[in-house]
Amino acid sequence: MMLPPENTAMHLFSTRFRRRAQATLRLFFVSLIPVAAVVATELEPFADSPHRVGLADSRIGYESEAYRTDSKVVIEVSGIRQALDKLSSETPLGLPAVGEGAKAAEIDLGRQLFFDRRLSANDTLSCAMCHIPEQGFTQNELATPVGHQGKGVRRNVPSLYNVVFVQQLFLDGRESSLVEQIWSPLLAHNEMANQDRQSVIAKIATIETYAQQFEGLYSGGLSEHSLGLALAAYQRALLSGDSDFDRWYFEDGALSIDHYSTEAALGFALFQEKGCIDCHQMGDNVSLFSDGGFYNTGIGYLRQQRGVELDKVQLAPGVYVVPLVSAETETFIDDGRAEVTGQSEDRWQYRTPSLRNVAITFPYMHDGSLPTLESVVAYYAGSGSEDPLQDVRISDMTITVAEQQALVAFLRTLTSNQVDALVSDARSVQIGERGAAGL
Ligand code: HEC
Ligand code: HEC
Repeated sequence: MMLPPENTAMHLFSTRFRRRAQATLRLFFVSLIPVAAVVATELEPFADSPHRVGLADSRIGYESEAYRTDSKVVIEVSGIRQALDKLSSETPLGLPAVGEGAKAAEIDLGRQLFFDRRLSANDTLSCAMCHIPEQGFTQNELATPVGHQGKGVRRNVPSLYNVVFVQQLFLDGRESSLVEQIWSPLLAHNEMANQDRQSVIAKIATIETYAQQFEGLYSGGLSEHSLGLALAAYQRALLSGDSDFDRWYFEDGALSIDHYSTEAALGFALFQEKGCIDCHQMGDNVSLFSDGGFYNTGIGYLRQQRGVELDKVQLAPGVYVVPLVSAETETFIDDGRAEVTGQSEDRWQYRTPSLRNVAITFPYMHDGSLPTLESVVAYYAGSGSEDPLQDVRISDMTITVAEQQALVAFLRTLTSNQVDALVSDARSVQIGERGAAGL
């Protein structure tokens, strides 16, 4: 049996929250439909179809009452399973080699777990509800996500495309292993809110189909480590290179392909000239558009200037709530890299994000405060913020309006040819039986 559409995520919200937001709940329900956006059932072959990323709402005009969603509800398994084990062992154009990929069965198990709401304490929230496949494995519609019982999470959701290449995970780089990383969302009280590692394992062990798959795949069966291995196997397979830019720049006969626009080519020249490439680094034959380093772009300072305003979450057009903040941790203060190093000069530094697929992973920056690529480039063009600790390379930038347009045109050519296949593959998963909590 399939789980019903993901609108049961409404259960995330506590009674207290519900009272507070009663009037907005109907609209909130509408806003969840895009969260459950899905590939159309009649999928065409990928090669000659444009990217289906428009399934996620564009958010243009989102602040207006007249806004209407374009998204569709998940009703049934609607995607087409791809051979991710094979795809991920053949390195896509423009990406570094990854070595031997995981076995198909391990990826399949990881995929099921990634979509399973039973991984959260009250069976409402899956990894995929924050890392939404149709929305670039991030969330296009919320600057920062809402987790367990309506509690707010302070940072924008990073895309999981090409996460295998990220050495220091999380925007402050506090984790180095994808296998260990899962415990952060699984246990965070404002994300999936499980009590402890043992309770997660005990719950999954009661689900017969999982217990069997773990037995078959790992010598010790289900354990804290093998749960991490399975989820990592799926995420490592989310490789996406082979963009228009890669075909123009890295392929034989490069720079001659006529589909690449003059404006994008100019944008790429500016990308180098203006020093973007210093941090969004490229190699000779491959490129992640990130050096993996941590820098202060001035956004943390702006966030502090704006104060709590920014922590409002927009649930539906014109409808804002301030998510619940519990006493346990809690402030939305975010010092970035300094939280890991303890060095005050690292305050408001965040990892340079890859720019691959950047056109589909809006909104931008660690707090999701910039809604469009145009606004990011305009931010750089305005030399960032007033933060005295901001990286000097940003404080020095001048970029004309025409140059900004060219830079955006270039950034839009970084969307991978694999995106549609990975979205479709994601929605090929059949998740368990009706959940223990009667979902
Ligand atoms: C409530 C929303 C939410 C849920 C649920 C969630 N994540 Fe995330 N995820 C985030 C946010 C926000 C971050 C960035 C956090 C930070 O930098 O401190 C993140 C970061 C990550 C990263 C690091 C990516 C990078 O580029 O550094 C990985 C990997 C990841 N999540 C995987 C998962 C997996 C696997 C699950 C399910 C077990 C999951 N997430 C559940 C919101 C969520
Ligand atoms: C000093 C290093 C540095 C330079 C120079 C730099 N960036 Fe960035 N860029 C970053 C960091 C760090 C972030 C993330 C900031 C944050 O999360 O608050 C970022 C974020 C971005 C984003 C948003 C990506 C996302 O997923 O949120 C885009 C787009 C971008 N930069 C493009 C550019 C362009 C275009 C230039 C040149 C005009 C440039 N960057 C110059 C370090 C840099």
